[in-house]
Amino acid sequence: MQNPEQANRLLHELREPSEQLINRHLNNTRIWYPNELIPERNHDPKKPWTPDIYPLKEGIRSAVLVNQLTEENLPHYFKSIADAAEPDHPLDSWGRQWTAEEGRHGKVIGEWIHATGAIDPRRLEDGRMKQVIDGKVPKFEGVHDLGPYASIQESATKIAHRNTGRKLGKERGGLEVMGRVAGDESLHEDFYTDLTVSAIEIDPSFMVVSIASVVKNFSMPGTGIDNFNNHTMAITKEGIFGANELTNGVIKPKLDQWGYWDLANLSPEAEKARDGTERRIKALGVVVARELEMREQHQQDLSN
Ligand SMILES: [Fe+2]
Ligand SMILES: [Fe+2]
Repeated sequence: MQNPEQANRLLHELREPSEQLINRHLNNTRIWYPNELIPERNHDPKKPWTPDIYPLKEGIRSAVLVNQLTEENLPHYFKSIADAAEPDHPLDSWGRQWTAEEGRHGKVIGEWIHATGAIDPRRLEDGRMKQVIDGKVPKFEGVHDLGPYASIQESATKIAHRNTGRKLGKERGGLEVMGRVAGDESLHEDFYTDLTVSAIEIDPSFMVVSIASVVKNFSMPGTGIDNFNNHTMAITKEGIFGANELTNGVIKPKLDQWGYWDLANLSPEAEKARDGTERRIKALGVVVARELEMREQHQQDLSN
């Protein structure tokens, strides 16, 4: 637990940067209508679901399911974000803007799934009920860990959606649906990345300790999903999202964007935390190497 008084001061000093980031976001974002992206239904919803309604490789189907269940966990994310701000802070109104946009993601992917028959609808609904009832989402101490966590998470989600869309292809609209969602995630990523930049300017040592802890403990959401490990493995093998994307596509570039390694005059506690990040990145490198070997093997197995 970091010093709550320091966290409070940071939240107050982030008022102005937050307002600027909200205005930038409102200028960049465009309204879009989920129903306009949805193809006609290609099966009778009253009949039992079978995978041949919409044939997909295992990893791609797992990615669609996990992406959608994560989007549908929105009520809990809303609460975690709302708890990190205070009622009259610009971050509170940001939380509502963000929630309105995120709600569109679960809606469009859900409607697309039902139109195409990509996932067994009963399995999806049972999964959604379990996810929301379990409510396993990160809780934040304050804006100091919300900023870095959400920046990494939005970036990771953007990559997962984008790669899923590429695998689905243009046929039946999958590429466009996932691409549109990934576009929103990218704007969210910009918001939280630059909020973290402002926080680092205000209190570098405090933020280094927070970032180190976020990087150390970060895992993709979805641990409450049935068969989560099998889904994760299939998604990784398919090359959609895994340790490689998280490490080389998200965490390392984020740390560079934040100038993390170049920050000077840090407190001894922050220096120690940053050393921990270095060790963490090395450890992730080992996992990535193993994962890339496994993917290569998987491709060879498929071609034999
Ligand atoms: Fe989303
Ligand atoms: Fe997002």
